[in-house]
Amino acid sequence: MGSRKLSGQRVVVTGASSGIGRAMASQLVQGGNHVLALARREERLLELQSELAEADGSLLYLTGDVTSEEYRQSVSDWIEEHWNGVLDVLVNNAGVGSIRPFAESDEATLRKVMEVNFFAALGLIRLSLQHLRCSRSPVICNVASVLGHTAMPAKSEYCASKFAMHGFSDALRIELALEGIDVVLVSPSTTRSEFFASVISGASKQTKGMSADKVASHALKAIEKGKREVLLSWAGRCLVIADRFMPAMLSRLLLRWYRHRLISESED
Ligand SMILES: NC(=O)c1ccc[n+]([C@@H]2O[C@H](COP(=O)([O-])OP(=O)(O)OC[C@H]3O[C@@H](n4cnc5c(N)ncnc54)[C@H](OP(=O)(O)O)[C@@H]3O)[C@@H](O)[C@H]2O)c1
Repeated sequence: MGSRKLSGQRVVVTGASSGIGRAMASQLVQGGNHVLALARREERLLELQSELAEADGSLLYLTGDVTSEEYRQSVSDWIEEHWNGVLDVLVNNAGVGSIRPFAESDEATLRKVMEVNFFAALGLIRLSLQHLRCSRSPVICNVASVLGHTAMPAKSEYCASKFAMHGFSDALRIELALEGIDVVLVSPSTTRSEFFASVISGASKQTKGMSADKVASHALKAIEKGKREVLLSWAGRCLVIADRFMPAMLSRLLLRWYRHRLISESED
């Protein structure tokens, strides 16, 4: 995997209206890159654009739902028209969560989580390959999660989508290495963003965790260095190591924690 300087690059960022995606788009533009920001909320993208009006790079946006095939095609058409078909960096960051036991969830929730977190990203990658092949140092950055390595109760659907992204990225990295296209997997731990307020089920307020700005700067460094993957916290790294080397013990600990959580919830 090669290293590159993130300056003057043409970058597409999904989920750029809040949290990690917004922070990545902002840092990229301040670093002199040209960003096409994607998300559904236009007012947020407009606000970001005006915040960055004086920056060295530029930010343009296309609003839409990343799960729509027509929308993804319009992104590819935009790259063709405005960047002569060349894309240097694709950041697949848009994501949603679902927090409740599988038995209490439903088919629609599972499909939504998989559509946004997995199928939409793969659809965009498929369409972007032709554009990335025209770049001198192309890279795909997929934002997954520590929960794409270690499974947590009450987050089974979310874990399924992130495990899928993890496995897919590892396989794709090897396939695309033959063409010189890097695949960087970013696996954040709990991050302060709107994520917990906008989960499909089980929304809550989250005040703990790393700032989205810090996650974004780690992710951009990983892209610059051409790292295969970054795990963004000590706790996250410990969980992944425990899952790899002591899976039975970790399951017992998680069961104890989950039972305790269910009991305290039933007492509330
Ligand atoms: N926060 C955490 O603790 C955490 C931890 C590990 C991994 N992650 C991952 O990090 C990524 C970013 O999450 P975040 O924490 O920054 O959450 P966030 O603040 O809720 O941002 C999510 C972004 O995704 C976009 N999005 C959601 N559904 C979309 C759709 N159907 N079409 C287009 N855009 C859509 C949202 O934009 P619109 O609503 O405007 O469309 C928003 O910009 C996600 O993949 C998440 O799974 C987060």
